[in-house]
Amino acid sequence: MHINNNYLNLKDSYLFATVANKVAAYKEANPDKKIIRLDIGDVTLPLCQAVVDAMKAASDEMGKKETFRGYAPYQGYDFIQNAVAGYYKNRQVDLDLTEIFVSDGAKSDIGNILDIFSADNQVLIPDPVYPVYVDTNIMAGRRTSYLDAKEENGFLPVPGPDTKGDIIYICSPNNPTGAVYNKIQLKAWVDFAVKNNAVILFDAAYEAFIDDAELPKSIYEIEGAKQCAIEFGSLSKTAGFTGTRCGYTIVPHELVSEGVSLNSLWLRRQSTKFNGSPYIIQRGAEAVFSPEGQRQTKENIAYYKENARLISQALDKMGIWYTGGQHSPYIWFKCPNNLGSWEFFDLLLDKAQLTGTPGEGFGANGKGFFRLTGFGSKEDVQEAVKRLAGIMSMM
Ligand code: MLT
Repeated sequence: MHINNNYLNLKDSYLFATVANKVAAYKEANPDKKIIRLDIGDVTLPLCQAVVDAMKAASDEMGKKETFRGYAPYQGYDFIQNAVAGYYKNRQVDLDLTEIFVSDGAKSDIGNILDIFSADNQVLIPDPVYPVYVDTNIMAGRRTSYLDAKEENGFLPVPGPDTKGDIIYICSPNNPTGAVYNKIQLKAWVDFAVKNNAVILFDAAYEAFIDDAELPKSIYEIEGAKQCAIEFGSLSKTAGFTGTRCGYTIVPHELVSEGVSLNSLWLRRQSTKFNGSPYIIQRGAEAVFSPEGQRQTKENIAYYKENARLISQALDKMGIWYTGGQHSPYIWFKCPNNLGSWEFFDLLLDKAQLTGTPGEGFGANGKGFFRLTGFGSKEDVQEAVKRLAGIMSMM
């Protein structure tokens, strides 16, 4: 046998695994110190009551012969597809139920979607960005090029005269920078994709953090997007499903290339390699979209946003430039004294027992930047900003 040599082109470990290993080593050497972790974007508030009640009721159904269910439909039960369609309808986006594919989360779908595209596509990935886009393309041996996201363009690159790409990744609100595309900027990408027969893979995992009605939460709010974009939605950050796992992918019927519907290819792929998200989880997900579920999840999001605001406020006081923190749980800032991002990571861990994610882990343009998340507890965030201010005052 021969291994997939492309794996040898990856970094030794996944970014958040590297961070976790460093934290574990520090903990072992310093068992009495309390570390505050604002690195991986993992939620800390429990599932809301509407979700818990729905999952309990679904568990009971699974324990009775009359209501027990076996394999779920490949694209998800119609109750959850209807709930997702209703959520989009509130934003004037009409979806056919067969355009909605319920899954075990956006991360797997974002990696798996590459199955339906030819290996010789040119892939365009913003830098910095969520490392899964880059790593999954390296695994598949694809040619990738990078779109520069920098301070000068507010970390929101738009297509220029020399831009080339067949598969384009866009994440808005962005992970890691927290920057959000407006409608004009997104329209530029949609026009580019339609003109060049390219596809946009739009990661909407953080849409629930947008508070401004003028900012698009879905790419389908932009005219023409159904002809060129696949959208990935997630309940992880919206409703605390990081450990529960449920997301959805929208593949519009209008998205056709060389006479072939991408929706039919994705259905073929999913029905062959995926057996559906569990019934109990799908019932919990349905509850997220109910009026009471929406009210409760919004409360949790407001809590995380308040944490992000506390961090932003502290950076303002320290005179440190940053993006995000407003329509996003992430705050992205420059490391002090021109420190490298891993250097700053080590310093913060060692001197303040505080962790964030080194910007460099998200791409070359992340060098010298650092990401903090608002997903901790309020008490931890309050303590973290004190520790951060203490470190900054010594620099
Ligand atoms: C992050 O911290 O960037 C995310 O939690 C990673 C993920 O969503 O997989």
